[in-house]
Formats: sequence, C-alpha cells, structure tokens
Amino acid sequence: MSPQSGKKIRSFQSMRLTMRFIIPLIIAMTLLAYALLPLVDKLTLHWFTRDLDMRSQLIANTIQEPLGEFLEQGNTYRINSLMKRALQDERLFAMGFCDGQGKLLYSTPKFPEDIACPSPDSPAPEKPSILKLPSGLVHVAVKPFLVDGVPFGYLFLIHDMSFIESRSADTRKYVVFFFVILFLVISFITVLVAHLSWRGWMSGVRALLRGEGLVKPFAKESSSELQPLMGDLRALLRTIDVERRLADDVTISWNPDKLRELLYKQLAGEQILVVSNREPYIHMKGKEVIEVNRPASGLVTAIEPVMKACSGTWIAHGGGTADREVVDKNDHVYIPPENPKYTLRRIWLSREEEKGYYYGFANEGLWPLCHIAHVRPIFRTSDWEHYMTINQRFADAVVKEANKEDPVVLVQDYHFALLPDMLRRILPKSTIITFWHIPWPNPESFGICPWRKELLQGMLGSTILGFHTPFHCKNFLETVDRYMETRIEHESSTISHGGNLTLVESYPISIQWPPPWQESQPSIEQCRTEIRRFLKINNDCLIGLGVDRLDYTKGIFERLRAVESLLENHPEMIGRFSFVQIAAPSRSVLEEYQVFESRVRALATHINQRFASGAYQPVYLRVEHHEPEDVNRFYRAADVCMVTSLHDGMNLVAKEFIASRDDERGVLVLSQFTGAAHELYEALIVNPYHIEQTADALYRALTMPEFEQQERMHSMRSMVRDFNVYRWAGRMLIDASKIRQREKLAARIGMET
Ligand code: G6P
Repeated sequence: MSPQSGKKIRSFQSMRLTMRFIIPLIIAMTLLAYALLPLVDKLTLHWFTRDLDMRSQLIANTIQEPLGEFLEQGNTYRINSLMKRALQDERLFAMGFCDGQGKLLYSTPKFPEDIACPSPDSPAPEKPSILKLPSGLVHVAVKPFLVDGVPFGYLFLIHDMSFIESRSADTRKYVVFFFVILFLVISFITVLVAHLSWRGWMSGVRALLRGEGLVKPFAKESSSELQPLMGDLRALLRTIDVERRLADDVTISWNPDKLRELLYKQLAGEQILVVSNREPYIHMKGKEVIEVNRPASGLVTAIEPVMKACSGTWIAHGGGTADREVVDKNDHVYIPPENPKYTLRRIWLSREEEKGYYYGFANEGLWPLCHIAHVRPIFRTSDWEHYMTINQRFADAVVKEANKEDPVVLVQDYHFALLPDMLRRILPKSTIITFWHIPWPNPESFGICPWRKELLQGMLGSTILGFHTPFHCKNFLETVDRYMETRIEHESSTISHGGNLTLVESYPISIQWPPPWQESQPSIEQCRTEIRRFLKINNDCLIGLGVDRLDYTKGIFERLRAVESLLENHPEMIGRFSFVQIAAPSRSVLEEYQVFESRVRALATHINQRFASGAYQPVYLRVEHHEPEDVNRFYRAADVCMVTSLHDGMNLVAKEFIASRDDERGVLVLSQFTGAAHELYEALIVNPYHIEQTADALYRALTMPEFEQQERMHSMRSMVRDFNVYRWAGRMLIDASKIRQREKLAARIGMET
C-alpha cells in the first residue's frame, strides 16, 4: 500500500469515526430544540402579558388624577384629548371609559365593539384578559375608577399584542441560532479531545506492540488508561509471537550461515562469551604424545557448532592431564585443534575445589535435586562454599575476557547458578543468557535445598533464562513465586527482581544439521557389517542400541530389564537379537555412580548368563569412552535405539540417532520423561518404569515393517532438520538482540528525559 493511499484510508476512517459522533449529536440537538421552542413561546407570552399588566396599571395610575378631574367637570373634549395623548404609546391600541351601569361613555376610535362594559349584572373581571380580534390579539385590562374614594366607572386599557408574536419569532430564531453555535462548539471540543485521546491511545498501544512495557518497563510507564488492556495485549502479543516463531521455523532454514548472518545483522560487533564447566576438547597425556578427547556431553555437542559459527571465546574448566601444557600465557588455546575457529579459555581448579564445587554441590546436590530419579541429593556447607568460590572465579574470568562493557554471555547449566548475578554486579550492561540443560523440578522438590534463595537470586541475574520445555519454565516460575519476593508477569513470562528483568523462555536444544560426518561416514551396509563383525554378531542378528553416560538418570538399568523381559516373553528372539549398551564412564569418583555401575554390570552379566549360548551374547556392555564418529557408526548399524531416561532435560542421543539414519530406517524407543518426547511424536514412547511396556515397545520396534519405519523416521528427520541447534541458538540470540535494542533505546530515552 502506498503512503498516500494509507493516508487516504486513515482520513476516511477518522471521518467515519467523526460522523459516528456528529450525526447522533445533530439528532439530539434538533430534538432538544423542537422540544424547547413551544416552551420558549409560552414563556415569552407569559413575560409580555405580565409586562402589559404592569403597563396598564401604570397608565391607569398616571391618568387617574386628570381623568377624575375632567370627569367631574364633564369636559368631554379634555377627556378625549387625554385619551388620545395616552394612545401615543404605540402599544396602547384603544381606551374607553364606562360608567358603572354598563354604558360606554368615552372611547378612542379603535375601541372594539365586542367589548361590553361591566354592569351590576356582569361585574368587571379582576384579571386582564386576552381577546382575539380580526386585527390580532389584544390585551384587555379593566381598572375600577374611583374619584375621592367613590366608584365612578371603569377604565378600559386595550394593548395591541402583535409585537409579542414578532418578539417570539425573534426569540425562536435566537434559540435555534444558539443551538447551532452550541452544537458547533461541542462538536469541536469533543472531536478535539477525542482526537488527542485517540492519538495518546494509539501511541500507547503502538508502544506496547513494539514491546515496550512488555518485556521491560521503559523510562515512562504506559498510560494508565491502557493498564486494564495491558494483560490482554500481552497475551495477544505472546500468541502472535509464538505463531510468528512457528512460522519462522517453517520458513527459515537454520544453518551455520544463517546463524552467522544473524550475528552479523543483529549483534554486529558484539562479543560472544560462553561459560560451561565441561570443555569441548580435553588434552590428555598419552604414552608418547598428547591426545585430544571429546567429552560425552550433550551440552558440548550443542554449543560447539554455535561457537564455530560465531568465533567467540569459550571459558571452561581445564580438567585434562595435559591441558596446562597446550595453553598460552593467557590460558588460551585455539580449537578445534585441526582447524581453529574459536578460543578456549581454561580455568584451573584444585582437587579440593573440584571435589566441592563439581562433584559435591553440582553433582551430588543439584543434579539429583533437579532429576526426579529417586537418588537423594546431598548438601554440604563446604561444597556450597566451593561452589560460590568457583562461580566467582568464572565470573571474574568472563570480566577479564570481555573487551567491552556489554558482552553477550551464554552461561551453561547447573554448575553456574550463581554466576549470572555475580556478573551482573560487575558488568551491569552485559546480556546474560543462562541455559539450564537439565530439568527444573517442582517448588516442593527444589525447596529442600538449603540455599534455594541464593541459587534463585543468582539465576535471576540473567537477561534470558532458558529451559528445554515450557513445563520446566512453569516449574521455575512457580519456584520463584514460592520462595522469592518478585513480580512475575505470566503473560510475558518475565520476572522482575531488584531492578532486573529476566525473560524465562523455552528453547528446545538440538543437534547440528546436516550431521558433521555426513560426507565422510561409511554407508549403512558397511556400518552394519563392520559393527557386527567387530562385536562378533551374526549378520542377520538384530541390534538394539543404548548410548549414554553411565548415569542413574538414564534408565539403563530399566532398559536392560526390558531386554531381559523381551527375551523371556519372546524366546524366538534369543539368538536373533542383541543389545549393545555404550556407556561412557561418568563422575565415577562418586559413590552413587560406582554403585550404579556395578548394578548395571551385574544385570548385564545376569542376562548374558541366562540367555547366551554358543557365540550368541544378548547384552554387550561397553563401559568406555567412544569418539563421536564411532558412536555414529553404531547408530547406523542398529535396528533400534533405546532412550529410556528416568528424567532428562532433552536427550540429544535420540536426535543424533535420527540424524545418522539417512536411509530412513531404524526405530526409536523413547522415554516419555525426556524433553525429546515433546518433539519426536513418531518414536515409540514408553514409560521406562514399566518394564513390560518397554519390552513390548522394543518387540514392536524389532518387528516393525520397513514402510512404517520409513514413515516415522522420515517425519522425525524433518523435525530434527528444521529444529536444529542453529535454530536453538538463533532464537535465543534474536531474543537477546531484541532486549539489547530495547535496553539501549530505554537508556537513551532515560538520558534525554
Ligand atoms: C549433562 C549436563 C552437562 C554435562 C554432561 C556431562 O548433559 O547437562 O552440563 O556436561 O551431562 O556431564 P559431566 O559431568 O561429565 O560434564
């Protein structure tokens, strides 16, 4: 639409609005005028009649004396000339004098014949009357005439009333004129006031639509008249936002270039810093050379492609045995080693600190606290103190690495709940995006932490606080509501606390697409053959696969019991199906993990003892580190992948399996307690606590016809392709950039006002 046509439409609309007001006003004014005019006539007549009464009395009083004298003298001539003189008053129409016997003695020429003199039989009327003559209305006043106190006759004073009619007509004219002027003045004032209010409203609504007052209360609060509408508008905007995002998801195909373009356009020149406990590359002393390992961490899998795309600085704990040997004097190392794209800044911890902060508070306290996996959290004051110290150390490192006062800092996971607030205090203008990679429990569960308030306070230093699912966001908002004094806006999902505003939003994490080994990976056939050969499994044997850290939240124990149940209930599968569990050793310093490992090992041994025969082994438990490329080969060789976490923020294994299957074959059995189950509907969704149900799903997966596998896999692959990790990061960065722009604008407005 051209600006001119837009203008025309707007003026047409404002004319329409004005007419809507003016036409009823014209009608109301006309009705009022019509109702008032007869009243005006009546009033005019009444006023002038009273006026004539008074004039009649006045004339009678004035001529009383000379008339009495002339009457006594019987001087007709003088009487007539007295009356004539009186008639010089233009309103006095006629005069007459009657004796008391009903006889007219004297009269002026126009004295009406119809007027009869009073007689003893018909006494004179006390009040003046109005008579209608052919010439018009006349006012007739009859005054008893006394001479020296003796009744002498009656004096008739007859006034012409035609002037009243002309006065009435004049008054009517003035009344109509008055109403027209009144109408114009009212219309003008009303239209002016309406126009000004409308403009105020429009700018208020526009400000809301721009997001001011939606995410951050700006320098000036929105006008109070809009307050009642604010909630509705926010809800509406949120719906639109969600719809727009969904539309975006469909239209934007996210990839590294798209993410780079976004960074270039929306965060041009901004510094991106990532903070996580786990580093993406671990340098280990080998027998002869330094080896580089990739950790088994969903977090690392997700952040690495983002860092490659934006070339920022990643700050992490240097935990490898050779980590110190490869850094420069600033503790920097450029990675990936084979093709450096970004900087890794390593932070050093003593054994004692690692024990308290990482193993203790983070993994014996917060990890079981947030995962409902029936392992009790342990909270020790000494761990908490280490946790605070290390959070502060990382916050100081961010400050040191920041080359400006407002960097964009991506804080990762439960190791750094305190860091956002610590950082906010030193760099108040920084944009802090905290992503919580694990679930957030309900307020009651979280409430058992002795330092719950401190943790929440720390997290509320974030600009954006991200979780995988809306359910975790809801739990977090409820927890804050329960334990903190804050203002929560549920429509916009924001928490306002100590002058800081935090947007709590769900950003389901994902993996990179296309998968990194797409080009170099062996064919499916080759993977199937090689993995079977490697494990010494028959070529026609079906393979079920589990890939996890050896963690009690992953449901590995329940999974193995489901395998056992399957072999029990479907003996035909014995010899035709093996289950391979890749279990990356994890946190094995902790007793809980050691106990868990021995339970899993014992169960695997038990199943093998029960069902193995000859070369056939039902369970392969591989507790060792596997490089991602190797894991990818296992995915491609498997018929079924089992993800049976008891509780999981997202679970990227599910998505990695799907990404690896460009043949569109293979079935995913997925726990309903993972974030991934909210996205991958075509998986076979199970409750891992229900062993038989999981076993049935496994059986169904192993016997699923190829076309059904293909249909399901095809749909899940398009989901993972479109909702990839670039979109995850892109959405967070878009939100961050919007907030940054608003804050900058707010600061400018604040300075000007
Ligand atoms: C989970 C956590 C990550 C962590 C990963 C591996 O995915 O959310 O923060 O890095 O487990 O655990 P680890 O303790 O070995 O880093």
